[in-house]
Amino acid sequence: MVQVRSPLTQTPEWQALSKHQSQLAGVHMRTLFRDDPERFHRFSLSAAGLHLDYSKNRIDRSTLGLLTALAEVRDLCAVRDAMFSGRPINNTEQRPALHIALRASPEQDIRVDGVNIVPEVQATLKRMEAFVEQVHSGARTGYQGDSLTDVVSIGIGGSYLGPRMMTEALRPFTRNGVRCHYVANIDGTDISEVLKIVKPETTLFLIQSKSFGTQETLENSKLARQWLKDAGVTDDDLARHFVAVTANAAAAHDFGIAEDAVFPMWDWVGGRYSLWSAIGLPIALTLGMDNFRRILDGARAMDEHFRDAPLQENMPVVMALLGIWYVNFWNADTHAILTYDEYLKELPAHLQQLDMESNGKQVDRDGKPVDYATGPVIWGGVGANGQHAYHQLLHQGTVLSPADFIIPLQSHNPVANHHATLFANCLAQSQALMQGKTEEEAWAELTAQGLPQEEVDRLAPHKVIPGNKPSNTLTFEKATPEVLGALVALYEHRTFVQGVIWNLNSFDQWGVELGKQLGKPILQQLTEGVHNEDVDSSTAGLMQLFRGE
Ligand code: F6P
Repeated sequence: MVQVRSPLTQTPEWQALSKHQSQLAGVHMRTLFRDDPERFHRFSLSAAGLHLDYSKNRIDRSTLGLLTALAEVRDLCAVRDAMFSGRPINNTEQRPALHIALRASPEQDIRVDGVNIVPEVQATLKRMEAFVEQVHSGARTGYQGDSLTDVVSIGIGGSYLGPRMMTEALRPFTRNGVRCHYVANIDGTDISEVLKIVKPETTLFLIQSKSFGTQETLENSKLARQWLKDAGVTDDDLARHFVAVTANAAAAHDFGIAEDAVFPMWDWVGGRYSLWSAIGLPIALTLGMDNFRRILDGARAMDEHFRDAPLQENMPVVMALLGIWYVNFWNADTHAILTYDEYLKELPAHLQQLDMESNGKQVDRDGKPVDYATGPVIWGGVGANGQHAYHQLLHQGTVLSPADFIIPLQSHNPVANHHATLFANCLAQSQALMQGKTEEEAWAELTAQGLPQEEVDRLAPHKVIPGNKPSNTLTFEKATPEVLGALVALYEHRTFVQGVIWNLNSFDQWGVELGKQLGKPILQQLTEGVHNEDVDSSTAGLMQLFRGE
């Protein structure tokens, strides 16, 4: 593993960026655009069917060079090669991070402990294909011999967000056949609402859990099993209604999953990077295995771009470095994902886990506290709705939140003039964030409306939009399986690059363990009458409320 040679903030490259920021702090993007008519073309990139316009950023022609110099001093290329070649870059768990192997082409050779894992990945894809065919053809039936009409995917986090996002994003490609439902939350409402609309005799449950130990997933799976039993399904027939995707086949077997109904997950795939694996079964069942393979093809195209393109022409690298620029040199604590495509409305939630669970850390790979900011809060939503909800803060708030606008050039639903109107809204928002409105312009506008002078003077300061707020705009022809694969892979590599610069292990998530540990005794105290006096008064008081004491 390439060792980082010196503390990040002490490097000359970091110092140069800090100086550069102070030079640019007084420069408005209006000026940068006025002085360079070629700015759009100069700061645009295309790769794997995506076009990135990063011209509306607080950068000049030297910025990217300074940023890539920082990437080089952090040995980005060597660490990237280490990831692609299966080195154990997840250092706290001593594992590789090989989600790229899940979408590798069959002839590739990617080794873990000396063994090429691509054949096993390909064999699993073939098993997935056969399974999807069995379900779609009606060959796989329920306990009364009926074809399966509904699949309920039970899983949470990476075993839920990726598949749900992808099936929603590619809804126009849905195959007639099974309806797919998702259950994630331990809130009984989640599974209850689904069980209201499916029937035991025609429902298949997919238990999606790498560990097969996640409380929410196990409790929901047990409830599903009882629901089937209550409907009269015998123990012998239960297995017909369950399939599991897990790295823990023994636990799946103990639950009652038939051996040939367990699809593998591997230790070298992190949950938030797993939709490309058999965790993607809901995607394949909903869209067809051919479309699932097209998603993999799109991701592979982005992998190859990330692996081969020079840093300054490398889309994931450029987006990652611009993120570093704002987090570490402009004190931006958040980053917005604004999807101007109704089908992409679940994308921000998936990217939240991808990025925040990867880089929401305060110690580096060696366990030393960092002295710089790391992963920002990832948030966002669907445009144009956000314009009528939170864009006020983006335009006039005191919080700097760089934004990624994501919009197709063509809609799957070209009704009336809607897509042109959506597109105009998207461009207007990023333009307004960039150029703003000066007090003089606000004053002139109000005066032109014929308002009395004192009204003009009173209102003008409230109408000023500072502008100079950075954004990227990602476009693509149309949201196809290949484009979605490339788009999600783009953000996976963006997250990876930032983790390398910050010297983090982006592939573990120790921070989620404490909540799970504390939940166990609290549950006992809520349900088993166990009283633990040695607990803070807030928790004790709230437990009393729950118990009605
Ligand atoms: O608790 C966090 C987490 O481990 C995520 O990283 C993961 O995606 C999710 O829980 C579900 O884990 P599993 O697939 O093992 O049920």
